[in-house]
Amino acid sequence: MKLFKAALALGAFALLTTSVSVVVADDCIDCHTKETPGMVSDWKLSEHSKNDVTCATCHGDAHSTAADYKKAVLPSEQVCKECHEEQFDQFSHGKHNFGWTSLNAIPATHIAPDQLMEGGGGCGGCHNMGIKTEAQLKEREAQGYRYQNNSCDECHTRHTFSKKEALDPRACQQCHMGYDHPQWEMWSTSKHGSRYFAREAGNLPEGASAPKCQDCHMKDGDHNNRTAWGFLGVRLPLPEDPQWKADQITILKALAVLNPETGEPGPVYGAVAAVDLARLDKESFDKERNKMISICSECHSEKYATERLNLGDSFFPEIDRMMADAIEIVAALYKDGIIEKPADYPFNYPFLLTFMETGGLAGRTDSSKISFIDQILLQMYMKHRMRAYQGFFHVNPDYAYWYGYAQMTKDLGEINELNKTMRATHHK
Ligand code: HEC
Ligand code: HEC
Ligand code: HEC
Ligand code: HEC
Ligand code: HEC
Ligand code: HEC
Ligand code: HEC
Ligand code: HEC
Repeated sequence: MKLFKAALALGAFALLTTSVSVVVADDCIDCHTKETPGMVSDWKLSEHSKNDVTCATCHGDAHSTAADYKKAVLPSEQVCKECHEEQFDQFSHGKHNFGWTSLNAIPATHIAPDQLMEGGGGCGGCHNMGIKTEAQLKEREAQGYRYQNNSCDECHTRHTFSKKEALDPRACQQCHMGYDHPQWEMWSTSKHGSRYFAREAGNLPEGASAPKCQDCHMKDGDHNNRTAWGFLGVRLPLPEDPQWKADQITILKALAVLNPETGEPGPVYGAVAAVDLARLDKESFDKERNKMISICSECHSEKYATERLNLGDSFFPEIDRMMADAIEIVAALYKDGIIEKPADYPFNYPFLLTFMETGGLAGRTDSSKISFIDQILLQMYMKHRMRAYQGFFHVNPDYAYWYGYAQMTKDLGEINELNKTMRATHHK
């Protein structure tokens, strides 16, 4: 056993003086104390160093010189699993486990520069979450991408691997912020978040309640995370209300989940099911919703919590009416030949999953093919509709109204004006 050998190597005197952390005298640490001192000192602060989980436990011992550094194993989640099977299993059933696969299922990924994807400088920097299959790992390696193969260091970062860090809501901030999912901004400026920070500053008593991300989404340390509505704000079965139903169908067409010509499942339907992009039956929606209500009910009355969340649901028909209106205006421009169908679009219909690069691949070489009205439509869906309902659920009135709903009305106004101009100036 390594711990035993280390103790022998250190001798009796060292044993007497090193009571807290066990200093393991091995080559990795000696050399890396010179090469990467910050990394070694972080490891020394970790529970791992106290439990004789050393550099070689995770990286193997094949590398021993500066020249052969590529022989060091860059450990995937499978290595963590050897000792943390419970968290690994929970994680593998959760939504985070789909990060990499869902990124690659999106057309926008294959249009944008590799540096941002496989290189982790953009979309890939947040979406490298997920246990990669052997095939996915091989593909990355073949493309020359060596790092970022582990999801477990995203919240308790290497090499401290601290539980306390992961319980800090800031652990979620890097990814759950910004353009299309500003949960950090919404939560931190809500009453829930402001109480959290007031307590942190000592302005509320220690025991005062102030829910943070983990309390609502990783209850009791459960690494299996998922919400009722999810990211796209669509679900099955479709609603009974005829107008809302029609509007959700229009949105599903613009996502190519449904074929706009036939109404049958479209090319993206399979991907949505495969990466659990939306809850596709009532049971899976209710399961997540009821879980959330029981969490809210620790501090609020159950009636209060249920009513608040139902109010969030009833907000969708309002925002979907505007959204569908906008999609239909742009769809008519495609139908009338005023916007030309980009070659890589699945249908002669607006397609939201090319993100800002509306016009598709063709748009990158010929900027005149990028349709600006499509970009406003994308912004209305990705930025403003997201904020409207996510803000509502995160108890942030300003995001729900001014950054969300109000901006959608502005987008619709712009789309109406552009529609008029495009039609007036179009020459066959
Ligand atoms: C003689 C010095 C030396 C020893 C001994 C040594 N390393 Fe390294 N290691 C290096 C250097 C130098 C690098 C490259 C650092 C750089 O690029 O700045 C490196 C890189 C690494 C990397 C990163 C690999 C990559 O692909 O970027 C890992 C992981 C690593 N070492 C782990 C270990 C482990 C585990 C041991 C013990 C089994 C060990 N090292 C022993 C010097 C050493
Ligand atoms: C509990 C497992 C674990 C232990 C113990 C561990 N590492 Fe790592 N290490 C990782 C993971 C995970 C990564 C990230 C792998 C990736 O990017 O795919 C990593 C990455 C690295 C890298 C390359 C990335 C960088 O930031 O430079 C080096 C170098 C490295 N470790 C050295 C060490 C050394 C030296 C020790 C001992 C002091 C050590 N590791 C102990 C898990 C561990
Ligand atoms: C050889 C076994 C082993 C491996 C491999 C291992 N760990 Fe650990 N880990 C431990 C032990 C032992 C502890 C301390 C006792 C405990 O909390 O279970 C620990 C504790 C932790 C903690 C809690 C630390 C705290 O602050 O309480 C985290 C987080 C963690 N490990 C993450 C990881 C991750 C991520 C990996 C893979 C990169 C990994 N571990 C690989 C054995 C291991
Ligand atoms: C490294 C980036 C990253 C970090 C850090 C991160 N997440 Fe995520 N999270 C993602 C990605 C990416 C997805 C979407 C996964 C997918 O593509 O299916 C996601 C999805 C989720 C979902 C599921 C939403 C749904 O669709 O139902 C929840 C809930 C969530 N994260 C909560 C958290 C919490 C809480 C933390 C902090 C403890 C956290 N995340 C930290 C990147 C991250
Ligand atoms: C700042 C980190 C970050 C960046 C950069 C990022 N994403 Fe995401 N992405 C997330 C998070 C977090 C979620 C989950 C949000 C939610 O559920 O509200 C998500 C959700 C998604 C989803 C839906 C996953 C699902 O099943 O719910 C797709 C698809 C997606 N992102 C693709 C992309 C693409 C393509 C890019 C680059 C153009 C990108 N993302 C850039 C963090 C990021
Ligand atoms: C008080 C509980 C609570 C807190 C705290 C909280 N959330 Fe949420 N979160 C919710 C609810 C409720 C929903 C919507 C659930 C549904 O669809 O029924 C949600 C939804 C989400 C989603 C899916 C997309 C969306 O926004 O609707 C993500 C991702 C997410 N939260 C991440 C976070 C992150 C990250 C934090 C911390 C910065 C956080 N949440 C803080 C309750 C909370
Ligand atoms: C989205 C953020 C996030 C990711 C990704 C994540 N963890 Fe955690 N982890 C946490 C949080 C939060 C806690 C603290 C849970 C608690 O005690 O309530 C934690 C705690 C742990 C602990 C300590 C458990 C204990 O009670 O002592 C281990 C071990 C662990 N995680 C392993 C892993 C492994 C293995 C992976 C990858 C499969 C992983 N984690 C991925 C957020 C994350
Ligand atoms: C850990 C305790 C806790 C949890 C869990 C919690 N809340 Fe709260 N919530 C509070 C506190 C404390 C306040 C501040 C009360 C006030 O404004 O007087 C608050 C405020 C609110 C407010 C604003 C109330 C107002 O009067 O302005 C709403 C709405 C709300 N919570 C809904 C929810 C929902 C929905 C959930 C579950 C998704 C939830 N909360 C979970 C403690 C919690």
